[in-house]
Amino acid sequence: MHKYLFILGQANDLAKEEITTVLDEAQDKILKTGTNFVVASSGKNAEQLMSTLGGTVKIADFIETIDDPSKLTDEKWLIYLKQSIAKANGDKIHFGFSLYNDSNRNYRAINKTALAIKRQLKQKHKVRLVSSKEPVLSSVIVATNKLLGNELLIVKYNNKWLLGMTRAVQDFVKYGQRDMNRPGRDSKSGMLPPKVAQMMINIGSISRQKTILDPFCGSGTVLQEAILLGFKKINGSDLSPRAVSDSNKNITWLKKEFNLESEVNIKQSDIKNLSKDFAPNSIDLIVTEPFMGDARIIKNKRSINQLTDIKQELQYLYLESFAQFKKILKPGGKIVFIFPIFRIKDQTIPTLDKNIIQQINFELIPPKIKSDQLSDNGNIIYSRPGQVVQRELSLWQ
Ligand SMILES: C[S@@+](CC[C@H](N)C(=O)[O-])C[C@H]1O[C@@H](n2cnc3c(N)ncnc32)[C@H](O)[C@@H]1O
Repeated sequence: MHKYLFILGQANDLAKEEITTVLDEAQDKILKTGTNFVVASSGKNAEQLMSTLGGTVKIADFIETIDDPSKLTDEKWLIYLKQSIAKANGDKIHFGFSLYNDSNRNYRAINKTALAIKRQLKQKHKVRLVSSKEPVLSSVIVATNKLLGNELLIVKYNNKWLLGMTRAVQDFVKYGQRDMNRPGRDSKSGMLPPKVAQMMINIGSISRQKTILDPFCGSGTVLQEAILLGFKKINGSDLSPRAVSDSNKNITWLKKEFNLESEVNIKQSDIKNLSKDFAPNSIDLIVTEPFMGDARIIKNKRSINQLTDIKQELQYLYLESFAQFKKILKPGGKIVFIFPIFRIKDQTIPTLDKNIIQQINFELIPPKIKSDQLSDNGNIIYSRPGQVVQRELSLWQ
């Protein structure tokens, strides 16, 4: 068993729900969680875990907890770097550190210790202390400056400091590639960030044997991430012929680019007729970001009345969707569904009315994590600063 320190990306709550689901189902143990980190034991190696998790940006071997940052002495730090020093063999030793959730004063004190280590190492080795303007080194800096195994993570939590050595970072090149390089991009109807799609799938199921469907597939982000996660039976559908064609293009491109095999079946289908296009009891898991209203009205000419009208139309569409899902889902099947929340001035207009959906016998499963940022319905919210539409992520069975 390894003991790891996981650093979560900006979508903290979503990332924590993802990691909790993935580790729980593998019967790994979560030992501690803070806003932006998790400590857990796992039998898997760090790279394996990193390629599964969309919301984790760094995975470190957990070292120890100290109760005062001044206890992080140069002797101690040199012990953490022992392996890299032994392996250096005349090559330059790169090292660095990231300090999370702490003050500038402590950052300066730790940086002094790092400079002392640099001076000591310099006597026998070529050495470089990698630093940036921020107290935290990004995954990009870690990966491009040979810091894997040589970056010390220091995370302040409840007046203690958790220490770890970074083993894996998020593969930013691969994410960029599958987001920006795919041939079919439709920025008008909105694309889900690949990491969010990945987290939604993991929250729905960690079993890759399941048959998955995105019935509002757009340009195919969820389908793409399902292939990369190792699902073999993947279905998509959308009302728009352009979306179907974009998804097909993207899937063909992705399979070739990443050399992957999966059975992917994409249909043009209006959500009202979904059960005509997919057989009864044929789907285990639906993961989708549905139509969320006319983006132009929502962004520009919005008034509370307009948004309330849009909300009503959407609620009707979502009810129709769930009624169709009921027909094609296998017993016990699950749905991960995004409901938009519109924000106007100080007001928020949620589109999820859970009573409507519970009336057709779907149960809303609350998140496993505790958070003070949940929606009024108790769901995790995903949004970026300044966004007019927030996404409320819900899990149904
Ligand atoms: C927000 S987009 C989904 C984007 C997708 N998650 C992606 O990353 O590319 C919503 C999609 O719903 C589709 N749509 C709208 N009304 C629909 C309906 N009645 N039935 C099926 N699809 C519909 C739109 O064509 C659009 O592609």
